[in-house]
Amino acid sequence: MSEIEDSVMIEIKDLKKHFREVNAVDGVSIKIKKGELFSILGPNGAGKTTLVRMLTTVLTPTSGDAIIKGHSILKGKDEIVKIIGVCPQEITIYEVLRAEENVEFVASMHGISRKEAREKAKKLLEKFGIAGRKDWSKNFSGGMQRRLNLAMALVFDPEILFLDEPTAGLDPQARRLVWDFIQDLKKEDITIILMTHDMVEADSLSDRVAILDQGKVIALGTPTELKEKYGSDNVLEVSFFEQDDLEIAKKNLEQISFATNWKEISRKERNILLISFQGGLKILVQILQQGIINNINEVENMKFRQNSLEDVFLNLTGRRLRD
Ligand SMILES: Nc1ncnc2c1ncn2[C@@H]1O[C@H](COP(=O)(O)OP(=O)(O)OP(=O)(O)O)[C@@H](O)[C@H]1O
Ligand SMILES: [Mg+2]
Repeated sequence: MSEIEDSVMIEIKDLKKHFREVNAVDGVSIKIKKGELFSILGPNGAGKTTLVRMLTTVLTPTSGDAIIKGHSILKGKDEIVKIIGVCPQEITIYEVLRAEENVEFVASMHGISRKEAREKAKKLLEKFGIAGRKDWSKNFSGGMQRRLNLAMALVFDPEILFLDEPTAGLDPQARRLVWDFIQDLKKEDITIILMTHDMVEADSLSDRVAILDQGKVIALGTPTELKEKYGSDNVLEVSFFEQDDLEIAKKNLEQISFATNWKEISRKERNILLISFQGGLKILVQILQQGIINNINEVENMKFRQNSLEDVFLNLTGRRLRD
């Protein structure tokens, strides 16, 4: 095996799942590297959960295969379940167990000693902000149950973690907590497969993203690659009180040495300058400092729209992610 092949943790090979009238997963082939955070981004019904259920050996494919750390999902179920942690879309907890009992139970299934399980459960529950609850987990709020589910998926230090919409239904604070936690996990050597329809989540957390639509991968790359290839440019729209000031700004902008990043400076309406550019925040600051700020008192309004994975999806499919 070559070095590159060596580092492949999951190889999905033309995987299909056809239900009676729906081709839920329709020929997906992806290689995911060890230690990578790989997101599958797609709208409702794209086939994300069906894909996860096949990869975690819960659902038998119609055709195709996937190799998880050397084991086929068709034949290697026993080996695979030992190394994967799964946080499913539908919350799966034992409702008449307390939080730590849920986590300790999963640990015991993986042969972890009672003492170690107890310590790990405590640590994880503290991290997720649900330590200290002594009642049955069926009384927990949806967001707390989801965090408990995450702790259960992680207690045996899986080599691969599947997260199916891990922040769905969480409030912004809990969502941030989970994102931070995922960021921390990335520093360890764990391979993470994240299913999401949240483009901000996919953009901010992923090493690479596959965009899934109607069971097919329609684009694959790093978030930056996808935005550069299929996205729109960043657009800064500046309206000036006076036409003269717009002309000054245009002159200033022409002088800027990084002008190569400009696509066009066009005047859409009177006194409005539409500045489209590629690149990040740094370029925006340069544009403002060198082109606009000396006229700032003359600026009536400013709007900024950043190129996003939403644009990528829209440009590829003609639809929005959340229609
Ligand atoms: N057991 C099943 N029987 C029949 N159709 C199914 C079954 N499971 C899923 N489907 C269909 O397969 C398609 C993909 O569903 P899936 O749940 O994988 O999508 P998803 O991307 O996870 O969506 P969501 O973002 O809503 O969770 C949908 O059209 C769904 O109705
Ligand atoms: Mg789903």
